[in-house]
Amino acid sequence: MNISALISASLLAVVLAGCSPTTAETSLPLVKVTKSATCGCCKVWVERLRSAGFQVEVNDVDNLNTVKQKVGLPYGMGSCHTAEVNGYFVEGHVPIEDIKRLLREKPDAKGIAVPGMPAGSPGMEVASGRVDPYDVFLVARDGSTSVYAHHGEAK
Ligand code: CU
Ligand code: CU
Repeated sequence: MNISALISASLLAVVLAGCSPTTAETSLPLVKVTKSATCGCCKVWVERLRSAGFQVEVNDVDNLNTVKQKVGLPYGMGSCHTAEVNGYFVEGHVPIEDIKRLLREKPDAKGIAVPGMPAGSPGMEVASGRVDPYDVFLVARDGSTSVYAHHGEAK
């Protein structure tokens, strides 16, 4: 092998190595979303997931408590929809970046949640572009919660 063939071979290896994270991005896992048929903000959040490259399966139900109990969502952490991905729950208007971080870091936990419906969170955008401060909580296996991420203006 001459020098230039060697160089192009190693360049190819670098290019291929550089490609692997992109490949992982295109194979994002399926997200199952349970919501009520009439919820508009849920639909917008599902659209955010789809445009980020997630496959989404939507389940419209009348009683949202059933799925929240099934996944073990603690009291006070509830929002308008419950998603399930790779064994975790994702409750409410959680930003895509935090879902990706959860899938990447794989913490020993039940899931993450944005309680309520903070203005400015994904799916809850307001015309002025205002983002109310809100936290994404990590829910541990024992049901205890800790702040996983903070969004919006500082408190
Ligand atoms: Cu909502
Ligand atoms: Cu919703």
